[in-house]
Amino acid sequence: MLSTCIKIVIYVAANLTAMFTILTGAQFGDEGKGKVIDLLAENYDVVVRFQGGDNAGHTVVVGGKTYKLHLVPSGAIFGRRLLIGPGVVLNPRVLWSEIQALESEGIEVNIGIDAKTTIIMPYHIELDGLREKARTEKIGTTNRGIGFAYVDKIAREEVQMGDLTDPALLDAKLSEIGPAKEKAIADMGGDPTVVRYAPFIDEYLEIGKKLKDRVTDVSREINIALIEEKSVLAEGAQGAFLDVIHGTQKFVTSSFTTAGSACVNLGVGPVMVDNVVGVIKAYITRVGEGPMPTELKDDLGVMMREKGREYGTTTGRARRCGWFDALLGLKSVYLNGYTELALTKLDVLTGIDPIKICVEYKLDGETIGYPPESTVDLARCEPVYEDMPGWTEDITSAEEYDQLPEKARDYVERLEDLLGVDISAVSVGPGREQTIYRDEPED
Ligand code: GDP
Ligand code: IMO
Ligand code: MG
Repeated sequence: MLSTCIKIVIYVAANLTAMFTILTGAQFGDEGKGKVIDLLAENYDVVVRFQGGDNAGHTVVVGGKTYKLHLVPSGAIFGRRLLIGPGVVLNPRVLWSEIQALESEGIEVNIGIDAKTTIIMPYHIELDGLREKARTEKIGTTNRGIGFAYVDKIAREEVQMGDLTDPALLDAKLSEIGPAKEKAIADMGGDPTVVRYAPFIDEYLEIGKKLKDRVTDVSREINIALIEEKSVLAEGAQGAFLDVIHGTQKFVTSSFTTAGSACVNLGVGPVMVDNVVGVIKAYITRVGEGPMPTELKDDLGVMMREKGREYGTTTGRARRCGWFDALLGLKSVYLNGYTELALTKLDVLTGIDPIKICVEYKLDGETIGYPPESTVDLARCEPVYEDMPGWTEDITSAEEYDQLPEKARDYVERLEDLLGVDISAVSVGPGREQTIYRDEPED
């Protein structure tokens, strides 16, 4: 296992000591990051989340057992040192119940949480729900309070992890920021008592007490780990087009989801980055609202959803499915600077013939080869497809690249050509073992 697993990060650095790798989702989230992180974690000492919150749902399948992780990094099953960086928005209830669930399965969760991590308070969730209800054009948020927790970070009105370990600090903070929150909730027709509701505060403080010994300085820990020649894997959540700057605004999440965000959020210098792995699905999905030019609204889209079990890990909502979009793929390569890609869910395309790849868009009578900046324009783009012949053979137990049907290999290599980045791993099923590592290309 070790020797094959190493290949995915072999392209840039020859040995794994002091390796700092960032992994992000290359599309609209749910690309299979959890699976790939779990695999890579075998070779890393530390796995750290750097943004997002429990809007994420990362699935790891080991020996037929499925773990759905929302906050605990996906290196948990390999028993790695796990960290939650200060750029994460953290719901302590979710974290605590996730830790307990894993530990009840015999998995020791060696986790550190940065003292500055923003806490999602019950009022953030209330505000998220109220705001979404009031919107005529919905975003389709996960209703986890993500956006409003980040608003408070930027507004400098956040509760931090460190505040939960000190009742006096939390009390002082809520006295300062509470009245404005209560007014905002009342103005939106909600129940303002949620802001300083004593049972909620007691529950948060109780969890704070339990997590106190796990509070750490993540930037310091990672930098020291790298100095000590340990390897660190930064686990992205969501995907490139949910990024609050570069995504399909306003239909995005509220954090920075591309690779550069890891350095900023973790307090690690950019020169420390060794490689950036993108996880990309062999087709495309999106959950929630917003444009997706290659969406299939027909039976084929439904078939992809059922075959790929495309239902949200966090909310259970049906994911919208469509053909691979090479224009968005290329933009993602630019946004993230990928050094290699892991292609997931190739098995879901088995039996579809032809398989289409979007290689251009038509917009206002013009043909374009790169997504327009404006979300409104992106929603108006008509995809132009290239057809690839499909295959019918079951590929879910293929172990070597050569065991894939030629047409499946042609598809993988066509994506590689279009994106200009090596696909170093191909996933053919949810299980750990259903992964094919490709040999390092010769120069
Ligand atoms: P993440 O948010 O990027 O970690 O992805 P999710 O876990 O939300 O969704 C990916 C889903 O696809 C999960 O149910 C995985 O178990 C599953 N999965 C991952 N890779 C493959 C694959 O190659 N084939 C199939 N059929 N399922 C996969
Ligand atoms: P992982 O890490 C897919 C989507 C929501 C909604 C938008 C904003 O599992 O890939 P938010 O609650 O963040 O304010 O919702 O972002 N979204 C995701 N879609 N995968 C995710 O995470 C997502 N996290 C948020 O559906 O459209
Ligand atoms: Mg997910």
